[in-house]
Amino acid sequence: MFLTIKQQLIALLWLLIWSISLWAEDEKPEFTARDVQYLKGFTLASLPPLPEAKDNDYADNAEVAVFGQQLFFDTRLSANQEVACSSCHQPDKYFTDNLKLAIGQGETSRNTPTLLGASYGPWKYWDGRKDSLWSQALAPLEAPLEHNFKREQVFELVQKYYADDYQQLFGVLSASSESDRTRVFVNVGKALMAYQRQLSLPVSRFDQYVYALEKGEKGDFTSSEVAGLRLFMGKGACMSCHNGPLLTNFEFHNVGVPEADQANVDLGRYLGIEQLREDEFNCQSDWSDAGEDDCEELRFLKKTGPELVGAFKTPTLRSVADTAPYMHAGQFLTLEQVVAHYSQPSPPFYDREQHPFRPHFDVMPLMLNAQEITDLVAFLKTLSGDIPANDPWWSEP
Ligand code: HEC
Ligand code: HEC
Repeated sequence: MFLTIKQQLIALLWLLIWSISLWAEDEKPEFTARDVQYLKGFTLASLPPLPEAKDNDYADNAEVAVFGQQLFFDTRLSANQEVACSSCHQPDKYFTDNLKLAIGQGETSRNTPTLLGASYGPWKYWDGRKDSLWSQALAPLEAPLEHNFKREQVFELVQKYYADDYQQLFGVLSASSESDRTRVFVNVGKALMAYQRQLSLPVSRFDQYVYALEKGEKGDFTSSEVAGLRLFMGKGACMSCHNGPLLTNFEFHNVGVPEADQANVDLGRYLGIEQLREDEFNCQSDWSDAGEDDCEELRFLKKTGPELVGAFKTPTLRSVADTAPYMHAGQFLTLEQVVAHYSQPSPPFYDREQHPFRPHFDVMPLMLNAQEITDLVAFLKTLSGDIPANDPWWSEP
């Protein structure tokens, strides 16, 4: 087939316009300068310094942190000599265990969260029943299904294996009263907290993408990842709870995750608040180093209400692709399942016998299509970074 000159010219012109538009497409920035500034608030560049720990005088003592690191990996701190913090919070799994429900000396009823970013935010645990990393650390030690130890045994272990270290850091190791021995138990918690404060967060592909945009570069996100990012910030409104550099608001919400055991519902934050107020090691306790006027968070705690029922702490999404299964009882095995849930949550479960109030749900069905689910998942996967191979805090001492 031969084309006339005119036809050839038209074809050439069309080709030219097409290639210019392709080039323009390529050069068009994915995000405006204002968008980029907004996105920067979600990167590690916006991570504030660690919150001040008025309730733990040893929180930022590097030698105490080294002691804490030894304890963290020490399986002798358990009844069967087999369970350490690191059994469930494994560094090579981003300080999780990849199990649906955590297993120590028995199976617990909750999923193991990562410890990355755990130093931030006022509340610890899915239900926030602890208000510091040191008081939190004391709980698994005595929990029958976890370390199954007694505080007296913790004291004996420190006396037997760590007496010199302990005395150098905390002063005399005295066994004369119950209070003296509890003091040692508490200091073990404070050392475990000091250790966890040393854990750095890996820089993710998402961070690098935003840093590239900031420099006026295009960044290396695929079009699906860019679409997922837009859904996260836009239609999905994920950022209304998963925000800031740790992608959490540190608050409690009921996002309608299926009840793990309908005969024994998990009231989440509703019970967590009661336990926190009664906790013998909370910020206002005698074991805390905080002053009378500290502990604002605890003093101004909201005590009850329907929105606390079945509410759980918004988890960080840093390295989320590496920390399956998901949610407080590992209800979802994959990120696809999580996003499918936000797209169309299952009908909420309400049992008058068990629920003090009708639970209050904080999400609306998003009705995403298959491509949107794929895109959101692709974006969530960009929140991971490599395990820092040369960081001594990330491995057994
Ligand atoms: C048997 C497995 C297991 C062991 C052992 C264990 N943990 Fe955990 N950890 C969990 C589970 C499960 C949760 C969540 C429990 C909940 O929220 O009710 C958790 C929660 C935490 C949290 C709260 C994180 C957050 O963001 O709220 C911290 C911190 C923590 N553990 C540190 C430790 C330390 C320190 C030790 C050792 C003294 C330890 N864990 C031992 C399984 C374990
Ligand atoms: C109303 C606040 C809120 C909104 C909006 C929200 N989340 Fe969540 N997210 C939570 C809470 C709370 C949990 C834990 C719920 C539980 O265990 O019961 C959670 C859990 C998750 C988890 C599991 C993380 C883990 O480590 O187990 C992922 C992934 C997640 N959300 C992604 C998203 C995405 C994607 C969106 C937007 C489509 C979104 N979230 C919207 C509050 C929210």
